[in-house]
Amino acid sequence: MTTEVHAVSPDAPDPHAIARAAAVLRGGGLVAFPTETVYGLGANALDPAAVVRIFAAKGRPATNPLIVHVAGIEETRALVTAWPEAAEHLATRFWPGPLTLVLPRSAAVPDLVTAGGPTVALRVPRHPIALALIRAAALPIAAPSANRSTSLSPTRAEHVLRGLEGRIDLLLDGGPTAGGIESTVLDVTTDPPRLLRPGLVTPAEIEAAIGSIQRPGEVPTAGALRSPGMLERHYAPATPLEGVEGSAWGRVEELLRAGQRVGWVAFTGEGGQEREGLVTIEMPRDPAGYSAGLYAALHALDRAGVDRIVVSLPPDGQAWLAVRDRLQRASVRG
Ligand code: TXA
Ligand code: MG
Repeated sequence: MTTEVHAVSPDAPDPHAIARAAAVLRGGGLVAFPTETVYGLGANALDPAAVVRIFAAKGRPATNPLIVHVAGIEETRALVTAWPEAAEHLATRFWPGPLTLVLPRSAAVPDLVTAGGPTVALRVPRHPIALALIRAAALPIAAPSANRSTSLSPTRAEHVLRGLEGRIDLLLDGGPTAGGIESTVLDVTTDPPRLLRPGLVTPAEIEAAIGSIQRPGEVPTAGALRSPGMLERHYAPATPLEGVEGSAWGRVEELLRAGQRVGWVAFTGEGGQEREGLVTIEMPRDPAGYSAGLYAALHALDRAGVDRIVVSLPPDGQAWLAVRDRLQRASVRG
C-alpha cells in the first residue's frame, strides 16, 4: 500500500484534504492525523474491520484498548451507559483538550476497541485538524498514537512515516504537535476517579475541578492491569536510555571513557561540552516546553546512531509528573 500524504495548515485546514481523509475513514481505511498531544492513527471506531487494521499496522496487542475521539460531549452519548457528574465537570472544563475519560461503554462500541472490557476511553481533541476530520467523517474515531507498538510516539509527520509508511492509507501532515506527550487518562467509573496515565492535564488541575482523585503511586500495581499504557518499557526509543538525577555529566563522561557514543538530553545551559562521540540536545527548563520537545529529541538521538541515551532527569514533583513517567517507561532500568 502507498501512504498518501497531504500537508495541511493547522490554522486553516484545507477542506479538500480533510474531505479526502474523511472519505478514507468512512471507507474503513486508516488515517494518521495531528492532535494537540501526538499524532494519532485513526479508524472508524464503530467498524471492527477498520479497527482491526489499527492493531495490525501498529503490531499492537489486542489486549490494549483504544481511545475513541469524538467531536463534542453530545457525541459521547451513544457510546456510554452512564455519564457521572465528574465526567460532566471535567468534560465541560477540559474538552476539547488533552484529557481522556474512561466511562462505562455502550453496546455500540465494538469489543476490539475496548479490548473486551466494560469501559471505553473517550476524548475530544483540541487540534483544528483533528476536530475538522472528526466532524467531516461524522464518526467516532478510534486512534492510538501513530507509532509501532511500544516505540516512541510521533510528534511530527516524519516520525509517523518512519514507523508506518506503507502500512496506513493516508497521513495529514500538520507540522509538529504542540503538546508533545499523550493525554491524561482518568477513570471516572470509580469513586474517587483514578488517574491511569499522567499527561498534559495535571492532577492539580483535575482536583481543582472535581476534588481528590487516586494517583498512580496510590494505585495497587498487583492484580488486574487497569490500563496497559501503565506497562513499563513503553514509549521507548530503540537506543537504551537511562535517567540520572541531578547532573548527568559524570555518567556521560564515564560512558564516553568506556568508548560508548552517548546522546545526552540535557537542560539549557547544562551542555556545551565538546567530546568525541557525544551528541547533546538541550531542553527547555519549563515542563510545557520540555514535553513539547521530548519525543522529537529521543527520535533524533535514535537517528544519530548513539549507543546510549542519558537524560538529566527533571525535578520530582507535580509539574514534571508526566515527563518523569514517560522517561521512566522509556528507561532500560524501568
Ligand atoms: O494523547 C493521546 O491520548 C493520543 C492521541 C492520539 O489522542 N493517543 C494515545 O493513544 O496516546 P494510545 O493508544 O497510545 O494510549 C491510550 C492509553 C493506553 O494507555 C490505553 O491502555 C489506555 O489509554 N486506555 C484506552 N482505553 C482504555 C480503557 N477502556 N480503560 C483503561 N485504559 C484505557
Ligand atoms: Mg501509544
